[in-house]
Amino acid sequence: MEKSMFKFQVDEERCIECGECAADCPAGVITMDGKPRFNEEGGCFRCQHCLAVCPTGAVSILGKNPDESQALAGTFPTAAQMTALIKGRRSVRRYSDEKVAASLIDELLDVAGHAPTGVNAQNVLFTVVKERAVMNALRQEVMERLARLKESGGLPDGFIGQYMGGAVKLWQEEGKDIIFRGAPHLLITSAPKASHCPAQDTLIALTTFQMIAHAHSLGTVWDGLFMMALSLCPDLTERLGIPDEHLVGYAMAFGWPAVEYHRTVQRAPAQVNVVR
Ligand SMILES: Cc1cc2nc3c(=O)[nH]c(=O)nc-3n(C[C@H](O)[C@H](O)[C@H](O)COP(=O)(O)O)c2cc1C
Repeated sequence: MEKSMFKFQVDEERCIECGECAADCPAGVITMDGKPRFNEEGGCFRCQHCLAVCPTGAVSILGKNPDESQALAGTFPTAAQMTALIKGRRSVRRYSDEKVAASLIDELLDVAGHAPTGVNAQNVLFTVVKERAVMNALRQEVMERLARLKESGGLPDGFIGQYMGGAVKLWQEEGKDIIFRGAPHLLITSAPKASHCPAQDTLIALTTFQMIAHAHSLGTVWDGLFMMALSLCPDLTERLGIPDEHLVGYAMAFGWPAVEYHRTVQRAPAQVNVVR
């Protein structure tokens, strides 16, 4: 029963004809005719819900073997654990010298790649600094570029110019890096401007990365100051290998923290507008 393009296959011995794959298909391209039937001409967007929802692992699509998917029963963290992770996460601005192993970074990026994307585009690019030496070189380069702008009067009026001017001063006078907060690693997400939701996809991917990083006891900080530097030195994106046709979503510095938080902060209640 293999269909050419999407390789939709049903293991007839495993299939119990429950219809879950058809009921859950967001594009409605699966119908039940005893067994599931796939409409090749329909709007399948490769979400693999049919493979994921099948209780007996009978459905394969895109050449994926359902037995190679991670089984989920009983594996999710509890709500209390997720609440502690979300409320206990802090922006980390002090980092240890220890580098994060490349294999762990790869694992985190693999998880972040499971973040949802509009129309399942899955085209977020993760641009990552894995090596401390590369990070130090980038830090130096950014500071030098900003210093040159400052010296030539090229910093804009307003808060961006003030922040960047202050960052240069701290770097030059105290060797203090408030742009990357001394972090040993940096992650930038970008996506093709022409895709459906590049701004949303890139931020969701970075948020997902942030949460799995903190679950591993790593520290992260959203890097708005680097985004400001990037807006003043836009050619840096080329230097970082980010394609010209990409929208840069945001940047996040990360590494092993040199700080430990012992309790949550106490935020004001969420502002809620209930529609009646
Ligand atoms: C979009 C965004 C940009 C940020 N940029 C920076 C930054 O450039 N440097 C920094 O130290 N913190 C930055 N932060 C961290 C915020 O200051 C921080 O989230 C806020 O103070 C709340 O603290 P918490 O994250 O520890 O809860 C940024 C946060 C967000 C969401």
